[in-house]
Amino acid sequence: MALAAVVAAASLALASCGDDDDGGDEPAGGDTGQASTEFEFFSWWTGAGDSEGKQALLDLFAEQNPDVEITDAAVAGGAGTNAQAVLTTRLQAGDPPDSYQRHVGAELQPDIEAGLVEDLTWLYDEEGWRDVFPQDMLDLITVDDRIYSVPVNIHRSNLLWYNPAVLAEAGITAPPTSWDEFLQQAATLEAAGKIPLTIGPSWTQKHLLENVLLGELGAEAYSGLWDGSTDWESSEVVAALDTFTEVLSHSNLGEAAADWQPAIDPIIEGDAAYNVMGDWANTYFATAQGLAFETEYGVTTSPGTEGIFNFLSDSFTLPEGAPHRDLAIEWLRLAGSQEGQDTFNPIKGSIPARTDADPALYTDYLAMPLTDWNDPEIELVGSLAHGVVAGGAFNTDIDSALGEFVASGDSAQFASAVKEAYEANQ
Ligand code: GAL
Repeated sequence: MALAAVVAAASLALASCGDDDDGGDEPAGGDTGQASTEFEFFSWWTGAGDSEGKQALLDLFAEQNPDVEITDAAVAGGAGTNAQAVLTTRLQAGDPPDSYQRHVGAELQPDIEAGLVEDLTWLYDEEGWRDVFPQDMLDLITVDDRIYSVPVNIHRSNLLWYNPAVLAEAGITAPPTSWDEFLQQAATLEAAGKIPLTIGPSWTQKHLLENVLLGELGAEAYSGLWDGSTDWESSEVVAALDTFTEVLSHSNLGEAAADWQPAIDPIIEGDAAYNVMGDWANTYFATAQGLAFETEYGVTTSPGTEGIFNFLSDSFTLPEGAPHRDLAIEWLRLAGSQEGQDTFNPIKGSIPARTDADPALYTDYLAMPLTDWNDPEIELVGSLAHGVVAGGAFNTDIDSALGEFVASGDSAQFASAVKEAYEANQ
């Protein structure tokens, strides 16, 4: 697996990454010795397409802990934009849940630095997880020789979802393989009365941005945006940003949907052709809407990204001061186990972070990421919108700059703002 480039980029965003051959700390104190009877898990998995996998895992946890009262403290809003604000308030107030969701990579770093999460290195040793998680994933999540979260999955960001009937109606035989080709198709689709591309709230615009940059710049230059080796102000990057603005001008930005699911609805209804979204969308199409893969909905890599896997991973933590620490540890054991991952992922629309998935469970769309993730020829890059390559203040600065950029279309100004933010946050 070629995760090395991602690791290199992300590790620059992280304070420091060490070898992971250290035994780690023994479990910290804090247990009362009495078994807890309550457990609270905090996530942003609520709506259709997001909640089903979580529910399956919570159900399995409930089955294994029949006397435990489980609180599913989910805050609605794709990609966790609302949930993360609520979580920050709770953590600052010393009111942590027992376990919470965070993306692996730069997003977790501020929590580690602020001492908000416990070191789980001992759990990796106890469970033998160093042998079942890919070494590159272990390197990515190791900070100063310690590991602070349990990755439950691998999601893919660079996907173009579409309605085959809408394409056929407009006389389009295949989805575009470059953004140039998308722009040509957009004219055809508009002439046929269809919306070429749908879009939702700010984070979906950021999701689109990362994949336009990736498609236009390629894997290496894209990764360089996050480690300082690609100049944001270079003509290539500014041109790619211009492409983003042009692509967006063929979307329903003026009537942007409130979240990722309603952004997909016009495609299902036959009013729109394409949407760029991660593979949680598969659960929305297939499970929530009951549509047939390939005939009623289709998917391919987003334009210009064939052979590239833009990844992200959801992970669970053990907050310092978790009120029911013993159950939180049991929850993490389950999330990191083969049974837990093979229960959660086929329903969630992701593949396990572990290397020993049962391939028979990953069919239809899910066969593709499982094959690609394990293909040494595939180039791996980390997602911007989902916490791998940028976190903390850098990420917040990108969000504000992007809001202005989407409104103004001023690529040069956005490039300068992000470059400045990158330098300021080093
Ligand atoms: C991502 C998350 C996915 C999915 C998606 C939409 O950030 O990693 O698991 O939930 O947001 O909400």
